[in-house]
Amino acid sequence: MSNSLVIKGFNGERKLHGTVRTTGAKNAALKAIAATILFRDTVTLTNIPEINDVERLFELLKDMGAEVVHVKRGVYTVSIAKGFSTELTPGIARKMRASVVATGPVLARFGKVSFPHPGGCVIGSRPLDLFVDGFEKMGAKVTMNDGSYSVEAKGGLKGAEFFLKNQSVTVTETFMMAGVLAKGTTVIKNAAMEPEIEELAKFLNTCGAKISGAGTSTITIKGGKLLSGKGHPHKTMPDRIDAGSFLVLGALAARELHITHCNPLHLESPIAALRSAGVSIETKKSEIIVRAPSHLKAVDIKTHEYPGFPTDLQAPMTVFLTQAEGESKVFETIFEGRLNYTESLAAMGAQITMMDPHRVLVRGKSELYGRKLQSPDLRAGLAFVIAAVVAKGESVIHNVDTTIDRGYEDVDNRLRAIGVEVERISAIPEVITHA
Ligand code: EPU
Repeated sequence: MSNSLVIKGFNGERKLHGTVRTTGAKNAALKAIAATILFRDTVTLTNIPEINDVERLFELLKDMGAEVVHVKRGVYTVSIAKGFSTELTPGIARKMRASVVATGPVLARFGKVSFPHPGGCVIGSRPLDLFVDGFEKMGAKVTMNDGSYSVEAKGGLKGAEFFLKNQSVTVTETFMMAGVLAKGTTVIKNAAMEPEIEELAKFLNTCGAKISGAGTSTITIKGGKLLSGKGHPHKTMPDRIDAGSFLVLGALAARELHITHCNPLHLESPIAALRSAGVSIETKKSEIIVRAPSHLKAVDIKTHEYPGFPTDLQAPMTVFLTQAEGESKVFETIFEGRLNYTESLAAMGAQITMMDPHRVLVRGKSELYGRKLQSPDLRAGLAFVIAAVVAKGESVIHNVDTTIDRGYEDVDNRLRAIGVEVERISAIPEVITHA
């Protein structure tokens, strides 16, 4: 059995109203959790989202020998005990791509690490070549065997200078953390600039690291000793994708929706796109207020590394464009498998043409109809929720536990609180194809 969400559509009416609180950021929390491996004492992490991916990463650390205490909702302490394993437990690590960021700290601290090729969302090929290159540049030897990697740095990691051929978020974070305990200076050029990276650097610097340039495309890390978490509890930043997903939902279906505890400055690109489509958006320091207009205009979007339009909001935005008058082009530049979910939107009534694996053409406005849906990844899962709210009739979204629940905390209760008619049921998984 797995969980499904049953949603009664609004048939295009703007009925949402109220306030939704943004959670701590998944993609910041996961890296802060991995970073605890760089500490000689206990680290306290707060505003951690209670989502499946976080649970799984804690499970991995515990299995490797960490002491993890769930103090209360959103608050955890982590201590890396003696005898901590240098093997990322394959059964757990294989289930989530983000586990790969733990390899940097483990290798830097213990001189070796082994891990399986990680899984995660089905959004593209997602290679590990930049990780392998980086480990080798820092003086480690990498052996690949049967889908697993063993990395060893005899005598410890050495600082190195490297240029990333792609601005990868997890590669940047992995080597920023590895550099903290390496001998000498590490320089990462063409680094990713996502706010979660800057946040991780701030956290590590508060606890003794020497990182400069995080948030720009060149990051310099001076290697040093193990960090100390004493007196420095770390609060996870707001999740820009969680806030952005509710923003898109509000832009389609809200009389007035207040999104609180967020940072609107992290959402400049999506806010600009929605405004040019005719949506009324007001921003305050940590709040966004959105009202859905009666007419939406088509806009083209192109995903890009930060501060460009985030790939993680591409699917919600594509749903939005099905309701805009005219023709919109969606260009997904980061992941080649991240438009496959559009087949399901077409089955709901959207007029979407796939031009190539990276580009679709959306013609609006289309009336959407409730359907049975199964998402390939968590972001498309939330996009289906938005489509279901807009649609006529009832939709059933399957496999919520392995998609939406991985990244969105308490999603059904938060949706219900703003007026969505949603129910969670246990269902036997069905195979649904709309191809
Ligand atoms: N890439 C390589 N070689 C590598 C690693 C990556 O060529 O060794 C390429 C990828 O194929 C891709 C590009 O680099 O074309 C960028 O991918 P990136 O590595 O930045 O993605 P990621 O670090 O695996 C993180 C987020 C994703 C988010 C992307 C882009 C985490 C845990 N994941 O992934 O979030 O989509 O950055 O912003 O931080 C999600 O939350 O749903 C999610 C998928």
